Amino acid sequence: MTGLTEGLCIGGLRLSNRLISAPMAHNTNLPYRILVRENGCALAYAEMANARSLVHGNPSSRRRLDTEGEPRPHAAQISGAEPEVMAEAARVVEGLGFDTVDLNMGCPEPCYVDLGAGAALMRDVGLVGRVVERVVGAVRIPVTVKIRAGWDQVHRNATEVARAAEAAGAAAVTVHGRTREQFFKGWSDLGVIGEVKASVRVPVVGNGDVRDLESARRMFRETGCDGVSIGRAACGNPWVFRSIQAGLEGAQAAGERPGLDMVLETLSRHFVMLCGHAGERGAVVLMRNYGCWYLKGVPGGRALRDRMSRLACPEDLYSLVAEGMAAAAALEVA
Ligand SMILES: Cc1cc2nc3c(=O)[nH]c(=O)nc-3n(C[C@H](O)[C@H](O)[C@H](O)COP(=O)(O)O)c2cc1C
Repeated sequence: MTGLTEGLCIGGLRLSNRLISAPMAHNTNLPYRILVRENGCALAYAEMANARSLVHGNPSSRRRLDTEGEPRPHAAQISGAEPEVMAEAARVVEGLGFDTVDLNMGCPEPCYVDLGAGAALMRDVGLVGRVVERVVGAVRIPVTVKIRAGWDQVHRNATEVARAAEAAGAAAVTVHGRTREQFFKGWSDLGVIGEVKASVRVPVVGNGDVRDLESARRMFRETGCDGVSIGRAACGNPWVFRSIQAGLEGAQAAGERPGLDMVLETLSRHFVMLCGHAGERGAVVLMRNYGCWYLKGVPGGRALRDRMSRLACPEDLYSLVAEGMAAAAALEVA
């Protein structure tokens, strides 16, 4: 790892810094990515797309890869276990103008692992090599992999998998330091991320439980990783990237979140963009969660969150925002 203020290079792709938005199904859609990119994130992964569905032109898989209005570089993630299908899907991704493609080898959900995909790939290191090799041979953009610590406590083979991926041509490896068995329980093990870093020459991105400057610094310091990938902490808090980057650059770390008025303004913009992306009905449903995340830790947020979780139509959201804005203005005057 070189200076933390220099951008990370993934293959031929040079990023503006070392902070990456982790792929999250249902969350990291286009509006989310636009907001995190505006707020200092160097690369934001789109929602994972199933390789087979993508190859068959499934419209919902295709919509996950909409990038209209999103600044480049664009990053996609695909899932699957069949080398040829994964290669074909990566060609689709490249054809859509993406700058890099990640292969999911960490998803713990039974609907993926039962088909041999996601974290199940880590149980077959030979297959990892074949998948990566075939995909790398099919596209010109950098191909990366995202793995976990291993399958379970007994099978913690992240270093072996990372080496196989590197040997097959992967340009970087992201490691989430939990096993598949853990799902999201416990903590991300920084030790295993450090071991992977010590075992490969390609950049290693550390992932798991980074939520602020202190945890980001700890991830860099204790693992020697080249970049940090942030998932849950950026939900409803796109500013987390700016805050961490400012701190890494030596500035006095800005507060984690801006004031209520800015939170509500961003939340409204997010909603408007979601309407364009998922339709009004879809946006209302998504906002019940997103909106609550935005309002976490905000003074008086509990009552607003309660209403947010029961949104029925766009007008509910607009009146909630107007009342919140009035409360924010009153707070300022007081
Ligand atoms: C709702 C949700 C959806 C996720 N979907 C994906 C996914 O599609 N692909 C993937 O590689 N990881 C996925 N993850 C895992 C995250 O990318 C990340 O590895 C994990 O949340 C740990 O990082 P964090 O502590 O910063 O959230 C998902 C996580 C969450 C919470």
